[in-house]
Amino acid sequence: MLSLTSFEMTNPITASAPAKLILFGEHIVVYGEPAIATALDKRAYVTAITLDEKKIVVRSKNLGNEIEASFKEQTKDPVVRAAQVALEKTKANKGVQVEINSEIPVSVGLGSSASVSVATAAAILKLFSEKEPSKFEIMAVAHEAEKIAHGNPSGIDTAITTFGGTIFFKKGEIESLGAPQMEIVVGNTKVPRNTKEIVENVKKIIEDPRVAYNLFTISSIVRRAREALLRSNLTEIGHLMNKNQEFLRALGVSSVELEQLIQVAQQAGAYGAKLTGAGGGGCMIALTDSPEKIQDVLNKRGAEAFVVKTNQAGVRYE
Ligand code: PMV
Repeated sequence: MLSLTSFEMTNPITASAPAKLILFGEHIVVYGEPAIATALDKRAYVTAITLDEKKIVVRSKNLGNEIEASFKEQTKDPVVRAAQVALEKTKANKGVQVEINSEIPVSVGLGSSASVSVATAAAILKLFSEKEPSKFEIMAVAHEAEKIAHGNPSGIDTAITTFGGTIFFKKGEIESLGAPQMEIVVGNTKVPRNTKEIVENVKKIIEDPRVAYNLFTISSIVRRAREALLRSNLTEIGHLMNKNQEFLRALGVSSVELEQLIQVAQQAGAYGAKLTGAGGGGCMIALTDSPEKIQDVLNKRGAEAFVVKTNQAGVRYE
């Protein structure tokens, strides 16, 4: 068997990982309830290359910046953290430079940080190992990085970004759903929000019995949505999206801007619409059989709207 120091490193390694949408169950998933997420046709690409000096360099083509860090320092940057954990796991005796090139809009609920962390983990683990890492190994490294971005992440973002397709997720359980590929319109309110803050606000009220019932109701909506997805019943999926939105509103995670866009999409004939991700701003989604029309009405209401395809591939090497 080759030792870790003597194997031939293939340099550089590029990995990519998809953006994601939470279709049902955001927030309740933090409390061990189920949620459904799907991988999208927008990806983050990360290229890793070894450096002789034992340091980490992260270059972002999108942000046009460069960060330098050591193997052990405390960091607030999820990509640096992903690199540190991957380097520790592989017992790397060289440094690494990672270059990020992403098609995914940042901080709007499409999982850009999880995608970059997953692609970084995959690229570095392969760069310093004799064999290709398993998806579980990649997900575990990226989950450590997500703790920086999100505080107490449920793990759904890293799971869907790693495995791809459409998943029914509960903490500790990932079921790959044979769901249809759908076109979904995403409407970005362009209102910035902070996932960690919104998750903490929900935590403050979730013990209140007047709020706690929401958790159970959304949980039953998610289970019904799983069945509707398996049957490709778009009318039912849309109806359940509208229902999920009612209870997200009651949890206090919607916003005036999100509500306006959701209402516009519903009135224009969408099967259903809801916020996606943490809420408070960011994006809403609409399921429809006429995506261009819904995209157009959302744009006219000041959103930045675009159409995505669901059920795409998870992390892969390019
Ligand atoms: O806003 P996003 O895309 O990071 O989604 C957060 C999803 C939550 O359920 C609110 C939090 C979590 O960790 O699952």
